[in-house]
Order: sequence, then C-alpha cells, then structure tokens
Amino acid sequence: MVETVHATFQVYRFTPGVDSSPRYVSYEFDLPPHTPVLSALLKIRQEIDPTLAMRYSCRSSICGSCAMVINSKSRLACQTQIGPELARHGRIVIDPMRNQPVARDLIVDQKPFWHDYERIDPHLIADPAHPMPEGQPNPMTPEQVDRFYETPRCIACGACYSACPAKEADPEFPGPMALAKLYRFVVDPRDGATRERLLKIQPGGLWTCLRCHLCTAACPKDVRPSERIRDLKELAIAAQGVTEAGSRHAVAFKENIYERGLLNEGKLARQTLGLAGTAAQLPQAMRILRKKPELLKSPPKIEGLAEVRKIYEMLEDEERSG
Ligand code: FES
Repeated sequence: MVETVHATFQVYRFTPGVDSSPRYVSYEFDLPPHTPVLSALLKIRQEIDPTLAMRYSCRSSICGSCAMVINSKSRLACQTQIGPELARHGRIVIDPMRNQPVARDLIVDQKPFWHDYERIDPHLIADPAHPMPEGQPNPMTPEQVDRFYETPRCIACGACYSACPAKEADPEFPGPMALAKLYRFVVDPRDGATRERLLKIQPGGLWTCLRCHLCTAACPKDVRPSERIRDLKELAIAAQGVTEAGSRHAVAFKENIYERGLLNEGKLARQTLGLAGTAAQLPQAMRILRKKPELLKSPPKIEGLAEVRKIYEMLEDEERSG
C-alpha cells in the first residue's frame, strides 16, 4: 500500500478587478509524501476548483514556468515535494511570486522581470576588432568558457527575482537574473561592449544588492546569481574605479577591517558618503551619535590582527594566481 500524508494547502486566490482583496482558500486531502506541490495544485484544479489559475508546462524543472512562493520561499512547484514541507511547517501555504503584480491567483505579470532583462542587452555585441572566424570551431578556450559555465543553466523562472529584497526596496535594481546574465556577456571574450555594459548598469544597478544570497538559495539551477553580482562589482571597480557610494563603501569596508580588525563605523560612513554626502546626512548622524557616542572614536586594534591580515594576503595571492 502506498504511504500517504494528510496535507493541508492554503492557496492564494485573487483576481484583480474582480475580487476586492486577496484571500487564502484551504484544501485538504491525503497524498504520497513525494508528491510535487505542482501535482497537488493540479489535483485541486481537476477535482475541486477548475478556476484555480497557475502557470506550468514541463513538470520537470526545465521550463521555469511554475515558480511560486511555497511556505515563504520562492521556488519551483514541480521540484518541491509536499512531505518535507508538511514535516517542517505542518501545512503548505502557496503564494504567487513577489516583485511582480498578480495577474490572477498564482500567475504573475512578468513584464517587470523581462523589462529588467532587456535592460542589460542580453545578446553578444560582436567586437569588430576581433571578428569571429566564419565556419571555424568555437574560438574560446575551455578556460574562457569556464568563467561563465553556470549562467547558461538559468531557466528564467524568476525565483531569484521574487526572492530579492533589493528589488523590493528599489524598483530600479535590475534583479539577480539580469545581473547574472550581464556577467555572462561581460566575461565573454567575444563581446566588444564589456566596458559600456559595466558603465551602463551603474550607478545603483549593482550596489543595491544586499549580499543576502537569497537569490542563490532560491535558484533551482545553481546559477548562484549573488556570486555573479559579486564578480560584476569587482569588474565594475576595475573598469570605472571607485566612483560611487556603493563601490566606495565596499573598498572602505575592506580597508577598514584590514587596519584594525573591527569596523570603524564613523570612518566608514565618511568614506562612503564623502564630505558633501556626510554634511547632507548631518542631522541623522547627530541622532545616531547621541545614541552611540563611541562612534566618534576609532576602535582598538584587535588581538590577532596579524591573522586577519594573513587572510587578506591569502585571498590576494589566490586572485593573482587566477
Ligand atoms: S513546470 Fe516546468 S519548471 Fe516546473
């Protein structure tokens, strides 16, 4: 006999323009624990409520259509089994993806996602100085291809975009998927617009990233967008220098820890904002200093600072050796 578990689903329902507000509808039945959430939703639609709207196609983690928020995490419904979710949460709450408006129930309007993707010019811009030889095999070396071997795995499901708090806070931030794709073209030796791409995406386009790595946790294909954004930041500094608050903050943070092993928050703020920026923030700075007067003093050097500096040296050696 097939083992089953009793499953409770709470599914987001909303039709803009028809419903006055979203609601959750509960559905309960017994299913084998390895059942994918997508199969459970299809059962609801086939046997209980044919009006439930969702997007799906391959049912095999290939097409990227079925991304949704399951128990607060953005992921593929066809890749998420109900057993572990019920064991952990006792029920399965299903919402549409975030950072995109709801079209109906679990379907979102993906225009913002694809608009952000288009912004990075997601195609090779050939370098006229290095024309590709006609009829020749791929002119890249395996090492060059290795620099972006993860990004072609992306299936554009949008789970990273949905999971991204920076996108939620700043609609101008292009989101993890677009930046991972941008990285792919920036490091492609056949692309002739590397510098223009890096300049175009700034300011704000890169540095709004909070380094929370939620995009990497959400990605079903291990593209690791947050790591690609980190790489892009380094490339942007190399192309443009330390010219904006985001890059100044990153470089000052690194120097700051090297100096004392502890963050000198007052100095970090001054280095990040510059003289004019610091002056503009003076009222807020005064409020903070009243609560934390110790910020006016430099922190003492920590014991074991030499060990911290060794880590820096090891990382720099690693970078030099490629
Ligand atoms: S249905 Fe294609 S990825 Fe889930």
